[in-house]
Amino acid sequence: MSSTTRQNPSIIRLGVNVDHVATLRQQRGTHYPDPIFAAALAEQAGAAQITVHLREDRRHIQDRDLAILRQTVTTKLNLEMALTKQMVEAALINRPDTVTIVPEKREERTTEGGLNVLSLSAEMRGSLRVLRDAGIGISLFIDPDRDQIRASVDVGAQIVELHTGDYCETSGEEQRRELARLQVAATDSFQFGLKVAAGHGLDYQNTCAVARIQEIEELNIGHSIVCRALFVGFERAVADMITLMAKSRGEARG
Ligand code: PXP
Repeated sequence: MSSTTRQNPSIIRLGVNVDHVATLRQQRGTHYPDPIFAAALAEQAGAAQITVHLREDRRHIQDRDLAILRQTVTTKLNLEMALTKQMVEAALINRPDTVTIVPEKREERTTEGGLNVLSLSAEMRGSLRVLRDAGIGISLFIDPDRDQIRASVDVGAQIVELHTGDYCETSGEEQRRELARLQVAATDSFQFGLKVAAGHGLDYQNTCAVARIQEIEELNIGHSIVCRALFVGFERAVADMITLMAKSRGEARG
């Protein structure tokens, strides 16, 4: 679809990543805090999506969490996953609304950098087709780079999630350059007909400028929301972020 016929999304939606609630639970091997409960509160506060990353090492989200969330989430369920045989099976069993394919290294603290779509093997491209044919939306977590965007279109993705990590980790002039990169990538992605999401490292300060990028339809945010929730409660932390995003975008609901 050409950019002249496709309107920029007027509303920006929040996907809440509840992995860090599970991290706290796993730390002590208790049954609490439960990410299922956090997801319900996030939805009640206005989140448009719940995101979980089922990692190969199961360091936070467990198979049980994914199975229950599939039954309880009333908005959209987005599963972040590595493109492995085991994870594709988990997705086909649990049927999230979308999968977001991320690169995954066992030793990393959190996802570092975007997926290199150009280097996906034929087998991996086949796995994407299997997921798409099962009716699951395909999102690829990529760096804000034109070649990655083109490659995402080539492999049949419907959504790209632009990696905001470099923008979040820099400051001053360097950060302005990273923001400009995100703007260009969002425009490119939109013109290629993709739905544009963004995320990683976004907090209650640095989200404002990203939310102003008109082509971005969705932000996936976890760590900063879960941290604020410790002091103000989960619903309030989610609602604060939604208000901040809406105000930055200039939406009436802000
Ligand atoms: N989007 C993707 C693809 C991620 O891997 C993560 C981290 O799990 C997030 C968004 C959320 O990042 P953060 O927890 O820093 O808000």
